[in-house]
Amino acid sequence: MAPRGVGLGDPLPARASRLGGGDCALQVGLGDAYSLGVLGRLPGDPFGLVAFSLLAALLVRLALLGLVQSIAEACHRVAVVRLLSVAMLARRHASSLARVDANSCGSRPDPPLASPTVTRVLSCIQPTGEVHLGNYFGALRPWVEGQHEKDVFHGIVDLHALTVIEKPGVVGEATINLAAMLFAVGLDPEVATVFVQSHVREHSQLAWIMECTVSYGELSRMTQFKDKTSKRHGQFISAGLLTYPALQAADILLYDTDEVPVGDDQRQHVEITRDIAERFNFRFGDTFVIPAAVIPRAGARVMDLQDPTSKMSKSADTESGCVMMLDSPDEIVKKFKRAVTDSESEVRYDVAAKPGVSSLLDILAAATGRTPQEAAVGYEQYGRLKQDTGEAVVALLEPIQTRYRDLIADKGELARLLQIGAGRARSVASVTLQRAYDAIGLIRP
Ligand code: AMP
Ligand code: TRP
Repeated sequence: MAPRGVGLGDPLPARASRLGGGDCALQVGLGDAYSLGVLGRLPGDPFGLVAFSLLAALLVRLALLGLVQSIAEACHRVAVVRLLSVAMLARRHASSLARVDANSCGSRPDPPLASPTVTRVLSCIQPTGEVHLGNYFGALRPWVEGQHEKDVFHGIVDLHALTVIEKPGVVGEATINLAAMLFAVGLDPEVATVFVQSHVREHSQLAWIMECTVSYGELSRMTQFKDKTSKRHGQFISAGLLTYPALQAADILLYDTDEVPVGDDQRQHVEITRDIAERFNFRFGDTFVIPAAVIPRAGARVMDLQDPTSKMSKSADTESGCVMMLDSPDEIVKKFKRAVTDSESEVRYDVAAKPGVSSLLDILAAATGRTPQEAAVGYEQYGRLKQDTGEAVVALLEPIQTRYRDLIADKGELARLLQIGAGRARSVASVTLQRAYDAIGLIRP
């Protein structure tokens, strides 16, 4: 497939930069570095530092003189990664200039690409228990809203769940329940590709390549790894908890993903995926599309009703702070009635000073399609705010619960829907995996 024309203002995912300019890689001069410098942050440049651009160009120059080894060794490891990243951008920039000038400077066959016109979206959720309101506002609802505008893939990542669950049967049951919930909230199997991670073996296969492209240091610095291991003091800590982001990178990169809609707690995992993809592309040639995290604004972080400074989570200390998607209307109203607020009585959206009230307003706003400031208008007591928020959530969840009950009663139909999803997912994932194997130069069987 022919690549699009590329200009300086274009985004720089792999698909836009497959310019066949391998031999151009070292043709970067200080002039180009300077123009990168004065342009500042290029789209797609995660680091965007003028000084790095200049140094990167110097590095490339020095590479021609065979001096790079000693310089690289003298640099701090992290700095080198940053420099290489900018060098890659410089290389792409040089390639694009060469292309614009219609100068041929060596070519390589273009790897297969996803559609250049439709945005590919991939998001995944772990089957680790019941889905709650935080999952819904932070993940599921944005997925449903985006399904008709973009080419969406949604994975139930059962292999990720193995990092913490050990008993037989648990993950399978959670997977089927979650599948029913995904269809119940409104994902349309005709439009969205909903699949189970373990049904698409390419996830595990690419994960190994990802593990070899990320460093131990990077993995051990991940916030989620540190949080999860500190909570499992004295318990079994699987190596999978450490290598988890490599599997997540495989999930994302297999689908030539442009966008990953996630709650803000997952931003770091998308960042490391970008780093891995850029490193792989630098080592082996452009192979992966560089994805971007998309964080939903309203209700991006739903807070625990009992502890409004922590996010709502099924692993919280008390159940009453977490509203489950399958809670009965009574339970929901009760949980909101008991929500922690403060000792004043003014209803005002002020996250720092009034976290409890603000969290209720966030939920009310998200449930009724308004801003939290709009939702606050007219309230003079906490009691009514709690009551109305509970009722708004009940009204929102009731139709979802009805659809869920119908779906979960028909396991054969659920399995059929998941098979269709797996087939579609595999048809994309297998091509990407082969592209990665070919880029590395693994011999075919
Ligand atoms: P988890 O419950 O950690 O498996 O999260 C599944 C998805 O829901 C992830 O994309 C999270 O970012 C999102 N999510 C989980 N809890 C919340 C929350 N309290 N607020 C917003 N999004 C959340
Ligand atoms: N780590 C994500 C979470 O805990 C789940 C996940 C796995 C994911 N693979 C992904 C999310 C790929 C987005 C894209 O919520």
